[in-house]
Amino acid sequence: MNLANIKKAKKILDNNECVAIPTETVYGLAGNAYSNKACKKIFKLKKRPKSNPLIVHYHNIQNLKKDCIFNNDFIKLYKKFCPGPITFVLYLKKNSEISKFATNYKKTLAVRFPKHPITRKLLKKLDYPLAAPSANLSSKVSAVNSSDVRDDFGKKIKFILEGGKSSIGLESTIVDLRNKPKILRLGGLETSLIKKVLNKKVLINNNPLKISSPGQFKLHYSPGIPISLNARKIKKGEACLFINKTKEIRSNYYFLSKNGNLKEAARNLYSILRKIKKNKHKSIVVKKIPNKGLGKTINDRLIRASKF
Ligand code: TXA
Ligand code: MG
Repeated sequence: MNLANIKKAKKILDNNECVAIPTETVYGLAGNAYSNKACKKIFKLKKRPKSNPLIVHYHNIQNLKKDCIFNNDFIKLYKKFCPGPITFVLYLKKNSEISKFATNYKKTLAVRFPKHPITRKLLKKLDYPLAAPSANLSSKVSAVNSSDVRDDFGKKIKFILEGGKSSIGLESTIVDLRNKPKILRLGGLETSLIKKVLNKKVLINNNPLKISSPGQFKLHYSPGIPISLNARKIKKGEACLFINKTKEIRSNYYFLSKNGNLKEAARNLYSILRKIKKNKHKSIVVKKIPNKGLGKTINDRLIRASKF
């Protein structure tokens, strides 16, 4: 682990500037969540609508105590899955110092405890939590490598904390725990595992055609070219995305996994979408992806990305 880089990131963040950070899901564009200045900058860099609140990242539950109200469901899920790819929507405490710009003046906060060791080391050194939406331009594909972040922001970001490729490759699963548990966004943690731990009904409010979480706008995760799903015909020059390797290899064929492994497919999804765009294909057709486990999250992202 490069401690000098972590020190450098801290110095920039202490000055209320932004730094891109690695997480196990996707890279985040981070700033001091207690600072209006830093949070405003995040919105500006991402070109993100002000109405779309930011996820705030903490090192551990202890640090969260002064900002949010806990309940039993939260404690159960925290013990089982944190640090990890799950985000909780909780009520903010009245005297919390979280920037009003981060929450868009809401009474709730989305919180996460990322697992990536470099970012955990950084969070441990800070005396504030980090607001960090995914480090991509608003409505576009998330970044799973430092080079993706550089492609989107160039020199506009002061520093990217290098952490290699994100191991999960899909954003966290968001669960609203204020009342009856409700999944607002499918993600890197399968909902069946969440249900098992809570041992009660968990609503899934994630219809891609309806907006549940403020940021779940119809078009999202878009590579910038049209995508069609479950298509049979492939037009000339069109990129074709498969879940596994096909017998026939063609220059416009792209494979999410060698043998249809859904974890591997999740890890590769965003890099391959970016690659297809770089290779100048004008559109993408997707061959059916199994709608189970992480396949559900992959399909969710592709459906949203297809609303081009
Ligand atoms: O894995 C992740 O969650 C990554 C990494 C960097 O942590 N972050 C991420 O952030 O995906 P972002 O901003 O791209 O997506 C966060 C989603 C948005 O759709 C936003 O609307 C929703 O979380 N959100 C934020 N605050 C919320 C709140 N108080 N209530 C409901 N949804 C909220
Ligand atoms: Mg995002």
